Amino acid sequence: MNSKIGVIGAGNVGASCAQYIAEANLADVVLLDIVEGVPQGKALDLTQAGPIRGYNSMITGTNSYDDLKGADIVIVTAGLARKPGMSREDLLNKNAEIVGSVAENIAKVAPDCFVIVVSNPLDIMTYHFRVKSGFPSHRVVGQAGVLDSIRFRAFVAMELNVAMSDVQALVMGGHGDTMVPLPRYSTVSGIPISELIPADEIAAMTQRAKVGGGEIVKLLGTGSAYYAPAAASVEMARAILTDQKKLLPASALCEGQYGINDLYIGVPIILGAGGVEKIVELKLTDEESSMLKNSADAYKETLAALGY
Ligand code: NAI
Ligand code: 2OP
Repeated sequence: MNSKIGVIGAGNVGASCAQYIAEANLADVVLLDIVEGVPQGKALDLTQAGPIRGYNSMITGTNSYDDLKGADIVIVTAGLARKPGMSREDLLNKNAEIVGSVAENIAKVAPDCFVIVVSNPLDIMTYHFRVKSGFPSHRVVGQAGVLDSIRFRAFVAMELNVAMSDVQALVMGGHGDTMVPLPRYSTVSGIPISELIPADEIAAMTQRAKVGGGEIVKLLGTGSAYYAPAAASVEMARAILTDQKKLLPASALCEGQYGINDLYIGVPIILGAGGVEKIVELKLTDEESSMLKNSADAYKETLAALGY
């Protein structure tokens, strides 16, 4: 029997997740949305691409949580984007309402699944999902660090004209302005990028990665990035399903690690069949530690605004 991945939200990120899962023949997919017809239509369209794209995954579109029974993993992309006249706080409250109800529904139909949260504001929604689902923290993880890192990896590869897959990078902190890129951990096939790229260019690429989401929002004019976010989310689903024990950055519940307590924030983790199997504690410089603390403090404030 194939594994089963549920994707909540059949919008840009959700539908792209379904496509990448199918193309990798990773699992059957159940695409769920509140809008009637859209998940069913996208699932049918994706299914009909199967014969020439060479996949056999069963892709189902639905508006009913019953279809998520037996899901091994659920990727949560449901949410609203900010609209004119809407404050960040309005968006926070609205998405918390959506993610909270998604969490309660998933807990009923797939109580043993692993969850990858994608909805923004990411670190806050991941915390909220865990509370509302009642799931243990190793089964609830947020996707942001993989995306932020692959953005940086792509910039380095383009600059040096080397294979994208040979570039490694690490980003910590929250998914937003307080993100903490760590260029000293970035290498090309093991060679530190500081030996290959001048410091001012590394600084410029670091800054570009930090505002990478905004750069795409500006270019698109409406909506935000979805190909790379979906690729990052499916990479995490694969790590869990195939027990890869991948070391990657993701939003995980810190309980004392890095001096941070009771907060989801981007840290290096080992991701495998047990979900978040470990938070890896690196020795940060004073400057990096203070950037991470700054990021954590900002998220504590936002959580407080949600009543936590
Ligand atoms: P989108 O607007 O294309 O899709 C969102 C979908 O969620 C819509 O189809 C909508 O009908 C659905 N939805 C709304 N309420 C729902 C509910 N209660 N139950 C089920 N479905 C519901 O948005 P897009 O581009 O797919 O982005 C989705 C979310 O992911 C946003 O919050 C966005 O900010 C976030 N995002 C996060 C990234 C990350 O790295 N963590 C990267 C890119 C996007
Ligand atoms: C991004 O970084 C919007 O969080 C989304 O592209």
